[in-house]
Amino acid sequence: MDKLSDKILIVDDELHIQTLFQRILAKEGYSVDGASSAEEALKRLEAEWFDLLITDLRIPGLDGIELLKQAKQFNHTLPCIVLTAYGSIDSAVRAMKEGAFDYLTKPVNNEEIKLVVRNALELHRLTREVEILRNQIKDENKNFNIIGRSKPMRDLFRLVKLVANTQTTILIQGESGTGKELIARAIHNLSPRRERPFIAIDCGALPETLLESELFGHVRGSFTGAVANKKGLFEEADGGTILLDEIGDTTAGFQSKLLRVLQENEIRPVGSNKTTKVDVRVLSATNKDLKQEVEQKNFRHDLYYRLAVVPITVPPLRRRSEDIPLLSQHFVQKYCKQNGLECKQIKATTLRKLLDYPWPGNVRELENVIERAVLLSPGPEIGPEALSQEHQPEEKFQELLPEVAKGALEVIEKEKIQEALQRTRGKRSHAARLLGISRATLYNKLKRYQLSH
Ligand SMILES: Nc1ncnc2c1ncn2[C@@H]1O[C@H](COP(=O)(O)OP(=O)(O)OP(=O)(O)O)[C@@H](O)[C@H]1O
Ligand SMILES: [Mg+2]
Repeated sequence: MDKLSDKILIVDDELHIQTLFQRILAKEGYSVDGASSAEEALKRLEAEWFDLLITDLRIPGLDGIELLKQAKQFNHTLPCIVLTAYGSIDSAVRAMKEGAFDYLTKPVNNEEIKLVVRNALELHRLTREVEILRNQIKDENKNFNIIGRSKPMRDLFRLVKLVANTQTTILIQGESGTGKELIARAIHNLSPRRERPFIAIDCGALPETLLESELFGHVRGSFTGAVANKKGLFEEADGGTILLDEIGDTTAGFQSKLLRVLQENEIRPVGSNKTTKVDVRVLSATNKDLKQEVEQKNFRHDLYYRLAVVPITVPPLRRRSEDIPLLSQHFVQKYCKQNGLECKQIKATTLRKLLDYPWPGNVRELENVIERAVLLSPGPEIGPEALSQEHQPEEKFQELLPEVAKGALEVIEKEKIQEALQRTRGKRSHAARLLGISRATLYNKLKRYQLSH
């Protein structure tokens, strides 16, 4: 056999049972090892990879059910078959409840062994395949949730990957709707903290005391309305990541409290005199220029340096227009799916309009426009008429621009000629001299402008 054979561990204190299984299963091409006690089995399982565990329920040391539970810590998809003495079906049922794949009653039947083993291994293979696929999907979401192939976005992704594994604070800056929160989530998902919570809070939306109690918690009676103790988000996010969104909109009082939390790594609930240690990675985001806020004394400079160990700027959409087609396609798919529609196509003329628009609301605005366009276009194609007037920048206007300029120039020229003629009381050669043009040119212009003095 070329391929590596599946490895099976058989646990039974009766050696002849071990030998029996080894003989039957080796003939089927499996590689079979034996162990006589739960302890020995666990040692083997820790040291090597097995595809299947077969264990007697009554073995020295831990019983078979306990072995089954502990074996999963080394390989949580490991299938297990239990062996029971004839007449002790109850314990077999218990083992199945604990996650055994199947059971065999002694004395065992050779054909039955082969069948049950084959099924168990097939299940193991499928479970592992599903798990691998699931991980792949998770990974894809991690990376492809954020659409963008433009140079600025590729640079951004590289930076995100680089900082994700560290503990540093990160300040994410960028205009509204550029995807700051998405970047924060990506950092969390790529970090070792990914299994712990990611909590985002809009610091600009709450008054100071409420914000403090949200983040740090409060004790009962600390202010009107505090009827019970409340755990703060910092505690909820323990081991994970917190995103302090709109950090630029916070008050000086809050800023100094936050600074203390970051320096001490501990929080004090409002109204309490006890502090609690917390392990939270702090990310913050703002659409303000925070450095400028510091210069204008609206933001503490010491807090700024704590928060912005690594500053990241998400570029506005107009600086990465090459991402617009891809993003549009992505949102078309999203909203067609959400509305149970066949996936529509964006017409090139529509795309042209989208590329010409400056997108002050960035990706969020594009997403809204596409959602609306998906719903408004009746057929399989999304034409420019599905966009609002605002989102259909006048191409004509752009095409006309040189003509507009030319027209403006003619108006001025005409005025100047009239002025010159008035000053010279209609003497054309004199007027031509004043204007710095030849007489012939003046004649031509008079004709063109239908000026007959
Ligand atoms: N590169 C991207 N790929 C896919 N979707 C994106 C991308 N950037 C932003 N979005 C989507 O656009 C919307 C706005 O993104 P997000 O909330 O992260 O922006 P923001 O910068 O935090 O905005 P605000 O400053 O208004 O809070 C979200 O629905 C998000 O999923
Ligand atoms: Mg946001």
